[in-house]
Amino acid sequence: MITVYHSEHVQAYVQALGSALPGHRVVHTMLKPQTATRYAVVWNPPPGFFTGLTDLQAVFVLGAGVDRLVAREDLPAHIPIYRLSDAGMAEQMIEYARYGVLHWQRSFDLYRNQQQQRQWQVQPDRRKQDTRVSVLGLGEMGGRVATALAAEGYQVNGFSRSARSLSAVTCVHGESALDEMLAHTDVLINMLPLTPATRSLLDGARLARLPAGAALIHAGRGEQLDENALLTALDSGALRFALLDVFSLEPLAKTHPLWVHPHALITPHSAAQTLISAAVLQISARIKALELGQSISGKVERARAY
Ligand SMILES: NC(=O)c1ccc[n+]([C@@H]2O[C@H](COP(=O)([O-])OP(=O)(O)OC[C@H]3O[C@@H](n4cnc5c(N)ncnc54)[C@H](OP(=O)(O)O)[C@@H]3O)[C@@H](O)[C@H]2O)c1
Repeated sequence: MITVYHSEHVQAYVQALGSALPGHRVVHTMLKPQTATRYAVVWNPPPGFFTGLTDLQAVFVLGAGVDRLVAREDLPAHIPIYRLSDAGMAEQMIEYARYGVLHWQRSFDLYRNQQQQRQWQVQPDRRKQDTRVSVLGLGEMGGRVATALAAEGYQVNGFSRSARSLSAVTCVHGESALDEMLAHTDVLINMLPLTPATRSLLDGARLARLPAGAALIHAGRGEQLDENALLTALDSGALRFALLDVFSLEPLAKTHPLWVHPHALITPHSAAQTLISAAVLQISARIKALELGQSISGKVERARAY
């Protein structure tokens, strides 16, 4: 039995998984799965969801981020968790990052504010090759974003936990390397997973290392950024522009000052959305392989939390 939990598209997932895996019974639940559940396909299931599932063999997450799943007490450590590997999200992330970089590079943020004051003033030209972009996280999302922007002609640095090598990207790892990189960054793009090591990584001190007038594109997880420090940096002009997709509390509270900040652009955690058909194709292929006793990719290393 395959049990699906998704707060919005559950019927679509059940139907598509049922068609892709005709030998399996695919059901959904909004509360407690049946104990016969062998595979759980989930996005943010409620607390206690996995308790008592003695037949459970694997959990498939309907996204790339697994921060809400790895620390759960109702999911025994021996049950493997598989995240989506790209599944059409990296292309969306590239578009999102490209939009944010161009917005800053071509001064659209400044022109938007000038327009409100009916001010006709040309901003200085800035070329791609003179724009230093730094990408935090060089995995399925950040790695593709970094190489795409480098191929377009930007100066790209990338930061990861372990040593990485990517075409035309200057790769660094380790926290001291991060501080050095920030000082030479015009546009900082965050695509890190949320782990104990990345929680609160972008605090006031790190934001202050960015050169005056830099930009932030924030699409990892909200808890990685000190939003008060961000507001201070935007208010003072130390940071010129922020494109923000993720927040410490989602949905962002209606009263939050970032909604109306003249230097912030807000999107509702939509930088890279899970595509139902691509997700089902990947998960069904993985379930078929598991049933044949084969090893599959996408397994989360629970000890490192991503
Ligand atoms: N906003 C959205 O719509 C959206 C959509 C999808 C994903 N996301 C977010 O993007 C995150 C990344 O996704 P992904 O598929 O690229 O993950 P991934 O393939 O697991 O890659 C994670 C990258 O982050 C690096 N990293 C992890 N911990 C680090 C640390 N402490 N210091 C430096 N680097 C660290 C990893 O380093 P190594 O290379 O050394 O392992 C790896 O390069 C997800 O976890 C999710 O939070 C957001």
